[in-house]
Parts: sequence; C-alpha cells; structure tokens
Amino acid sequence: MIYVDNAATTFYKPDSVITAVSEYLRHPGNPGRGTNHCALEASRTVLDTRIKLAELFDCDMRKVVFTSGVTESLNTVIRGLFGPEDHVITTYMEHNSMLRPLYRQNCELSICDGSLAEIKKLVKENTKAVLINHVSNVTGEINPIREIGKFCRENQLLFLVDSAQSAGLLPISMKKDFIDVLCFTGHKGLLGIQGIGGICIEGNLKISPLKVGGTGYRSFDKAQPDKYPSALEAGTLNMPGIVSLNHSLDYLKKQGIETLLHHEQRIADEFCRQVETFPFVTVYRNPKKEHVGIVSLNIAGMDAAYVSDRLSCLYQIETRAGAHCAPLVHEYYGTESMVRFSFGVQNTMEEAAQCAEAIYRIGKEGRND
Ligand code: ALA
Repeated sequence: MIYVDNAATTFYKPDSVITAVSEYLRHPGNPGRGTNHCALEASRTVLDTRIKLAELFDCDMRKVVFTSGVTESLNTVIRGLFGPEDHVITTYMEHNSMLRPLYRQNCELSICDGSLAEIKKLVKENTKAVLINHVSNVTGEINPIREIGKFCRENQLLFLVDSAQSAGLLPISMKKDFIDVLCFTGHKGLLGIQGIGGICIEGNLKISPLKVGGTGYRSFDKAQPDKYPSALEAGTLNMPGIVSLNHSLDYLKKQGIETLLHHEQRIADEFCRQVETFPFVTVYRNPKKEHVGIVSLNIAGMDAAYVSDRLSCLYQIETRAGAHCAPLVHEYYGTESMVRFSFGVQNTMEEAAQCAEAIYRIGKEGRND
C-alpha cells in the first residue's frame, strides 16, 4: 500500500508514541483530580507536554489548552470571542472547521485570498480579527503568517491561526509571528494520535468557554474558574492523546521539523513535476506560493472519486477525493472535487513515481463504464 492521505491523518507514528500510549493504558490516571500516584504521574505528563508545546510554538505554557482537536479549538475560540457586531477577515482557503463556526456566530465576514494586500483593503472600523489557516488542506499552499501577524499587531487586530496542516512541519513562533491564538491538532504533522489538539493563547485575551464542568479545584464555585488552561478544559483530559504528543514532540525535536518538511516537499514536488507533463491533468497549485507536501489534481472528464477509487483498487494508492471540507477553494477553482495526494514522513521518491505512473495509466485508459 502507498498511503498518501497524510493531510487527513499522518500514517507514520513513532514507535516511542505507540509504546508510550499502550504503556499508559496499562497504568492510567486522571490528572488534576487527586493525589494518588497515578493521578500525580498523569498531572506531571500533562505539565511536561504543555512545556514541550510551548517550546515548539514559542508561547506561554500556562496558556496551552488541550481540546479534542482543531475543530473544538476553533469552535471554542470563535464562539468565545466573536459576535454579530464584529467584522472579521478570513480566506477562501479555510476549512469548514473555521467557516461554519464563523457563519454560526453571524459575524460580518470578509473573505479574501489571504494576501496582505487584500487583507489591508478590507479592514474597517469594526474589524476585530484576521483568521487564517497557515496551510491549505486542499492545495498545500503556505500563507505568509508573519507579515499578516505584524500588520494585525500594528493595527490592533486579533490574529488567529489554524495550524491543522502546519504544526510539526513549519516553524511557528507565536511571539515572532504576532499570533494571538493558535489552534492545533495532534494527529497530523505532530504525529500524535487522534482526539487531541489544543489552543495556545498569548496576552490577556479572555475567551469564554464552549463547555463548563469539572476542573478538579474550586468545586464549590458555581462559575467555571477563569484561569487558563482549566477555564477551557472542563472534564477529564484525553490522557492517551497527551501521552502521544509528549513522545511525538521528542521525536520531532530529535529529527528537526525542517528535515521532515523538506522530505515531503521534495517528494511532492517530484510528483507534481511528473503529473504536470500529462496533458489531461490539472494540478491546483499557486505558482507564486510555497507548498507543503500536498498536491491536488483532476483528470479531465473524470470524476475525482472515480480516480481515487481506481488508485486504491488497482494500485493500492490511498488518496482522498472530494471537497475536503473546504468549499470556497472549489468555488475559486471552479471545481466540485479534487483528488488529493498528501505525502508524509514514510513516503519515498519511488512512491511518488508510482503515483504519477498510476495517474498516467488511469488518464490514458479513460472511463469506460
Ligand atoms: N481536515 C482533514 C483533511 O483535510 C480531515 O483531510
């Protein structure tokens, strides 16, 4: 099998992650809920993981909040910060995890291409924030977060970044990139397991919680404690997920995230170079931008789902086809779906050539049903 759906979830998880998670399942404990040895050990792991994340994202470890993933993170932040009176700027590259919470809040929304020039034109009196993904999950293009962040800081706008496709691959410094809120997920570039993610907050931003409940302290208060991180962490944390991150972060530090990025970029660029020579293939990449290891394409006259199915059934090449939960990208390109190849740590140059060869054969054979 050639797994090239790493943007959905990374296939490779370090052995240390798998060992640590199964070890944890044999010795579980609930952090912050007691002083028995198991609970204390879990609390230490949580603290240690917050410290490692704060080091990776160059932020305050006291404001690293755990959630179930980037969707919960974005829902929490958008619901907790914005309302119909606020104008916010976002891009057509966003995932529904960003767009739907914004639509639900009824914010006044301006949607642009994510360039600083376009963002500048859209700012007005009641603009409260710019919200953008660091990397598009469909095209893999990298957005210039530092220059946008700098502009936001200079103009007293909040800057929120969705790092679902970049955390663990691209360097992110909340301080140097002027990010007020960073939302991340654990099971993609961070190489952890599914069901863990988080929110990192800079400054004194108050975000009202999406859910309230047990925090393990101040139990007689009727209101949720407002101190981060527990203000946004009601209920038992996902300890297996946190354990996985604790170990995957060590792995990433040892390997160096740039090494992993360059590996997948080289493979994706080679795949792109080959498929772009096929006259029946359209590749959706912005030539003016840098990309991670994601390449989305279509074969003329062929449904993306059909192509993805052929890739899987005939060549054991596992891609994702469809709208990828990012409808505005498709409006922009005039498509309804695309076949996405997203390369990862475990992929090789030879696999890139095999993927290109399979696309060539499927395109040549045409659809005959
Ligand atoms: N958001 C994930 C993807 O792009 C699931 O496939």
